[in-house]
Amino acid sequence: MPQRVTVAKVADIPEGGAIVVNVRQKDVAIFRINGQFQAIDDMCPHMGASLSGGFVEDGCVTCPWHYWRFRLSDGAWADNPKVKLGAYPVHVVGDEVQLELPDL
Ligand code: FES
Repeated sequence: MPQRVTVAKVADIPEGGAIVVNVRQKDVAIFRINGQFQAIDDMCPHMGASLSGGFVEDGCVTCPWHYWRFRLSDGAWADNPKVKLGAYPVHVVGDEVQLELPDL
């Protein structure tokens, strides 16, 4: 059964921005765009940049180093959707932000 883990307060994530949280020894970037929260693995699979520092437009984050683009909805690389980062449902419960993690 998927597990929900509280990782932040709503106020910790600025509108239009992102934070990085470490869950299960993995860095996850949580974006807050137009009031919606979305979470994908933070580490770019190209050379390891932090995607939380990328530019978000049209539902994709652009890596700040070499501009690969990843969809926030499912973590897919926009140029080759067969390559996917982890993507995690985000739930807001009161003032808490929770990530839904898959079974181990
Ligand atoms: S490190 Fe992200 S595109 Fe190169």
